[in-house]
Amino acid sequence: MLTIALYLYSLLHLLSSTAATTPPYTPTDYFLLNCGSSSKATSPDGRSWDGDATSKFWPSNIGTTSSPSTATEQDPSVTDIPFLTARIFTSKFTYTFPVSSGPKFIRLYFYPATYSNLDRSKSYFSVTAANYTLLTNFSAFLTVSALVPQQSSLVKEFILNVRDTQKLDITFNPSPNSYAFINGIEVVSIPNNFYMKGDLNPIPLVGSQQFFYIDDNTALETLYRLNVGGNDVSVNHDTGMYRTWQQDGQYIYGGAVGLVPHLEIPIRYTNETPNYTAPATVYTTARTMGRDPYVNLEYRLTWIFNVDSGFLYLARLHFCEFQPEVTKENERIFSVYMNNQTADQEVDVIHLSGGRGIPVFKDYVLSVPVVDGLRSKVDLWLAMHPNMNSKPMYADAILNGLEIFKLNQSDGSLAGPNPEYDMVPAQPAPYPKLPGKENSKTSSWLVVAVSGGVIGGVFLISVIGFVIFSRRRRVRDSGASVVKSSWVQFSISHTSKSTKTNAYRLISADISH
Ligand SMILES: *[C@@H]1O[C@H](CO)[C@@H](O)[C@H](O)[C@H]1NC(C)=O
Ligand SMILES: *[C@@H]1O[C@H](CO)[C@@H](O)[C@H](O)[C@H]1NC(C)=O
Ligand SMILES: *[C@@H]1O[C@H](CO)[C@@H](O)[C@H](O)[C@H]1NC(C)=O
Ligand SMILES: *[C@@H]1O[C@H](CO)[C@@H](O)[C@H](O)[C@H]1NC(C)=O
Ligand SMILES: *[C@@H]1O[C@H](CO)[C@@H](O)[C@H](O)[C@H]1NC(C)=O
Repeated sequence: MLTIALYLYSLLHLLSSTAATTPPYTPTDYFLLNCGSSSKATSPDGRSWDGDATSKFWPSNIGTTSSPSTATEQDPSVTDIPFLTARIFTSKFTYTFPVSSGPKFIRLYFYPATYSNLDRSKSYFSVTAANYTLLTNFSAFLTVSALVPQQSSLVKEFILNVRDTQKLDITFNPSPNSYAFINGIEVVSIPNNFYMKGDLNPIPLVGSQQFFYIDDNTALETLYRLNVGGNDVSVNHDTGMYRTWQQDGQYIYGGAVGLVPHLEIPIRYTNETPNYTAPATVYTTARTMGRDPYVNLEYRLTWIFNVDSGFLYLARLHFCEFQPEVTKENERIFSVYMNNQTADQEVDVIHLSGGRGIPVFKDYVLSVPVVDGLRSKVDLWLAMHPNMNSKPMYADAILNGLEIFKLNQSDGSLAGPNPEYDMVPAQPAPYPKLPGKENSKTSSWLVVAVSGGVIGGVFLISVIGFVIFSRRRRVRDSGASVVKSSWVQFSISHTSKSTKTNAYRLISADISH
């Protein structure tokens, strides 16, 4: 028995490790730099990082123009590699990476801890790459202190195109009487025409009749990348670009979390949606509105994100119908809204993709204007609602994945203001968590509630209420994802022309006006 179990275990292990070594995409350039270190090291995710102290790619005087340092304290949630060591700059310093031309991810790793006797709240600096300003007067300390749920480190991800120069300069410049620091830098190639598709991809500009084109001159900052209705996806389970995909639960507005169906079916990628677009798990999990069509017609499934005003945003919505009930056109049709404007009147995923199990994504560009001449942190709303105009079989909507990027301004800048210290997070409190890392997140919330002196016991009680509610909810939801639900029964009564059908028709007629 035991031998069989062991055999199966090793077989599974072998299969999973084989799968991990053959991702759909292999980047031509891939650098992992552990700053402030002089030796090679491996991070817990198994990736190998080079120290930045000795390299032929930047000036050998790195030792005199900067200093390596080790954090004096280490939050247990922060991994040693690359976060424990940092390089500190008191004057301008440039790292130069030898890269091929084409689009790249730049990921900057920051752990705003205390280094030597420097005051972490006094570090302000700018970062430029190629000719783009990624960060200005940036305080990693303030940025991290505003994160929800609480976190001690952060990774900033940017996308920009490297021209024929075959090199990528990343420059750190401390503000006057300040210092800059960086813990890790990652550079990874991206397939051509993937995020910046130029003329190939006319993107609707929400709230106008116009289209927007994102070409090679645009730099992007990734703000959100979500595996909607699913679990966190770590770097090694991406498609070869080492992206992370986060759960979406904390961004859901109000009490309406909908349902999170999940079914492992083979995903059939296409020329339009190649296999590196998103991992299959993004497409085999989703959030839908709920089982009761009458309820669905009454509300919008809504997510709220915190963004900087004064920028254009690219939202990439990933769709895939995988539920057995939806296989044909005109079965599930819905509208998409951004900041309460119609982004798409009618999304029929099967119509877009061609069938069940075939993934597809749609891009939208949204302008988030400055309010009262003041750059600030504002909300970006994404919402969905059934579109009953062509009498689809179900009154429902679906979203599988979501990426939101900030686009550079005309001067090439992506930099926004720092969040205010102690700012009450603009996002609603996290809503029921999906299965996964629930326990660790729960406890960090309790810590937040207890340590936040101003936030009283009422909040603590509501947090506990959340946890209990989320547990219950989870049980109900996971049941719904495997067994047939009343969502299905509704469709049966609809097709069998029962009295309920008429009531439903009435409602859909009301709604379409
Ligand atoms: C991804 O798609 C490419 C092109 O169709 C194909 O050659 C490759 O084998 C696929 N990779 C995986 C891991 O499916
Ligand atoms: C930056 O801009 C200058 C002047 O416009 C240009 O010559 C140079 O090629 C640009 N560098 C990169 C890396 O794009
Ligand atoms: C969208 O509408 C809701 C409800 O009327 C409102 O509370 C919210 O502020 C609006 N959001 C935006 C970004 O305009
Ligand atoms: C982004 O910056 C580039 C280079 O400065 C510029 O050509 C482009 O117009 C900018 N994009 C936007 C949306 O302003
Ligand atoms: C830099 O950021 C801090 C904190 O947000 C702010 O108080 C200060 O005015 C900013 N400085 C500049 C030059 O923008």
